[in-house]
Amino acid sequence: MRIEEHPILKFDRGKKITFYYNGEKIEGYENETVAEALHAAGIRRLGYSPELHRPRGLFCAIGNCSSCFMTVNGEPNVRVCVLKCAEGMQVEEQQSKGVVKI
Ligand code: FES
Repeated sequence: MRIEEHPILKFDRGKKITFYYNGEKIEGYENETVAEALHAAGIRRLGYSPELHRPRGLFCAIGNCSSCFMTVNGEPNVRVCVLKCAEGMQVEEQQSKGVVKI
């Protein structure tokens, strides 16, 4: 769910795009972050903590912690709260410490 109107804020989301979360098609907008698009799609868990494997989700939402680390196009430890959506990008939950897939 997205806020469509707000008395003070103006939303310029740009063009609608499609990307993939764990292989599932997700719709987002070019001017919103991956975390925003996932949240709008009802996805709250973004990965698991490396030590105790606890679920992790959005925390600071400004790029200052490691709570939103995900694997994006095979690259681990990407902060999706500050990464804009791009057409066709592959986003996966991170199960532990990020591992680069070759
Ligand atoms: S939620 Fe803190 S860096 Fe993304």
